[in-house]
Amino acid sequence: MDERAPGGSQPDRAGGAFAASLLEWYDRHARTLPWRTSSRDLAAGVRPDPYRVWMSEIMLQQTTVAAVKSYFAAFTERWPTVEDLAAAEDAEVMGAWAGLGYYARARNLLACARTVAGERGGRFPDNAAELRSLPGVGEYTSAAIAAIAFDEPVAVVDGNIERIATRIACIETPLPAARKPIRALVQTLTPRERPGDFAQAMMDLGATICTPRKPACVLCPVSDHCEARRHGRQEEFPVKAAKSAKPSRVGAAFVLRRTSDGAVWLRRRPASGMLGGMSEPPTTAWSSRADGATGSDAAPIAGDWRLAGFVRHGFTHFDLDLEVWLAETTVDPAIEGWWATPATLPGEALPTLMRKVLERAEAGQAEASAI
Ligand code: ADE
Repeated sequence: MDERAPGGSQPDRAGGAFAASLLEWYDRHARTLPWRTSSRDLAAGVRPDPYRVWMSEIMLQQTTVAAVKSYFAAFTERWPTVEDLAAAEDAEVMGAWAGLGYYARARNLLACARTVAGERGGRFPDNAAELRSLPGVGEYTSAAIAAIAFDEPVAVVDGNIERIATRIACIETPLPAARKPIRALVQTLTPRERPGDFAQAMMDLGATICTPRKPACVLCPVSDHCEARRHGRQEEFPVKAAKSAKPSRVGAAFVLRRTSDGAVWLRRRPASGMLGGMSEPPTTAWSSRADGATGSDAAPIAGDWRLAGFVRHGFTHFDLDLEVWLAETTVDPAIEGWWATPATLPGEALPTLMRKVLERAEAGQAEASAI
């Protein structure tokens, strides 16, 4: 593969000067993060725990550092080793994950822990190629774990790092087609020494300085190497292909409330598919607008259904608009599920969408009783 930097004229990156400047900055300004081993500790011989590195990278897929911190602390306290996690009940893990979103990650987390504990003697593979074979570990995650936990000099490329790379070399090709040249560039920039710190330094640079808008170039340790900065064009990158509008889907959720104590009827979603294995008030399938099953006729049980309102939720590939229907009952419904009382509800494995549905129903209930 041609490992030379793509894009316009070549910035000066000879002799690893880019990595040297970035690492010097990282030694002084690295964020303190609960899963991170500081460069000072690494220099003193402390080795990162691959379990914690892996856990953090799975949680950080599509979720912000701020949102992950408390979940990371809770998971590693409750399940300090991969064997502990592998032995956990599925429902416990899904419940602890609730609110973090993208629930396939939680199922893969468990599957991966069980593979590592059951088939690999509790040891994670020490290179990206083998890590990649584990459930939930894709190209980015395998590279991040290999670099951070095992110092393999592989290119780690997430969205932030894509932005940095396209600015460094003025890569005019729109994303996603630019991914290949970006990877080649990041590979040439990655040093043999301290590749894990280098990857994390790039992440910090992207999060704090080389931001999407108004990047703080005056504070940037690698601005001398940045082609876009040289031309005053930093905010023009990355170039993105025009994207089509996100499609919408519609559906309905049915919140059945027990009059005596305000309990709500929940059921478990099928293990495979979106929000698989999580709890929910009964919902219809989610369809494209033309044939969406909505309205109280779509309810799984007869009842005096009232419309309590609407909930909109953005998934990666579509927006979902759910009608929220509410009914009161004094008897157990003849469909699969269980009652969640106000006391047990907080411990249910309810995804954020379903919590929004229940909040909407509760607000609808309050509005009705106020009339
Ligand atoms: N985003 C994804 N992985 C990260 C890490 N290890 N540190 C900071 N931000 C991240």
